[in-house]
Amino acid sequence: MVGKVAAGVVSKTALRKQVVAARDAIPTATRRELSERITTRILGLETYRSARCVLAYMSFGSEFDTSDFIADALAHGKTLCLPRVVPDQRRLDVHTVENLECHLQSGVWGIREPRADRPLVDLGQVDFVLLPGVAFTRRCERLGYGGGFYDRLIPRFARRPRLVAAAFDLQIRDQIPLEATDQCIDVVIYERGLYLKC
Ligand SMILES: Nc1ncnc2c1ncn2[C@@H]1O[C@H](COP(=O)(O)OP(=O)(O)OP(=O)(O)O)[C@@H](O)[C@H]1O
Ligand SMILES: [Mg+2]
Repeated sequence: MVGKVAAGVVSKTALRKQVVAARDAIPTATRRELSERITTRILGLETYRSARCVLAYMSFGSEFDTSDFIADALAHGKTLCLPRVVPDQRRLDVHTVENLECHLQSGVWGIREPRADRPLVDLGQVDFVLLPGVAFTRRCERLGYGGGFYDRLIPRFARRPRLVAAAFDLQIRDQIPLEATDQCIDVVIYERGLYLKC
């Protein structure tokens, strides 16, 4: 059966398409309002408040809007890190960024990312990670965009930071197809609450 890998389980590719299409259909004003509500929840997390070094991402398309989160991290004097895609090695390099106007450039898929001359961060210093994704479960399983970039990055942290994702309600699914290399996260925050990995 096309799009199915096992009875009742949609393939990763099919699920990505479904969820991104549903997310794209959220009106812009609603997405903005939901992003504000989710951001308030993230900013209230003790692990975020006490974090000194934060890895975030520049949102694109219909994703949860990370701009207020990033602005808060900078305003509170935290070290802000952003990922830069190294496509041929399917790797993310993590750089510090102090100024969003001067230190970013357009990267792969048009997503803004740190310039290559920005300092690389020691991954052992990162306390808190806000990471993107397409779909999540209540058990904090994650489906990304299909590059395996975060699945490769997460094991590289010398000291596992708090791994948090923001999602709209429609991105939370009962089940997602998983492979052995898929990394779970610690917290999924959505507009009405949060899920913690058990
Ligand atoms: N640590 C790893 N080492 C080698 N291959 C990996 C690793 N992690 C994932 N992969 C492979 O990368 C490919 C993409 O993985 P997957 O579909 O899970 O991406 P994703 O989690 O959706 O993407 P991303 O993390 O970039 O958002 C798969 O073929 C997967 O087996
Ligand atoms: Mg994965």
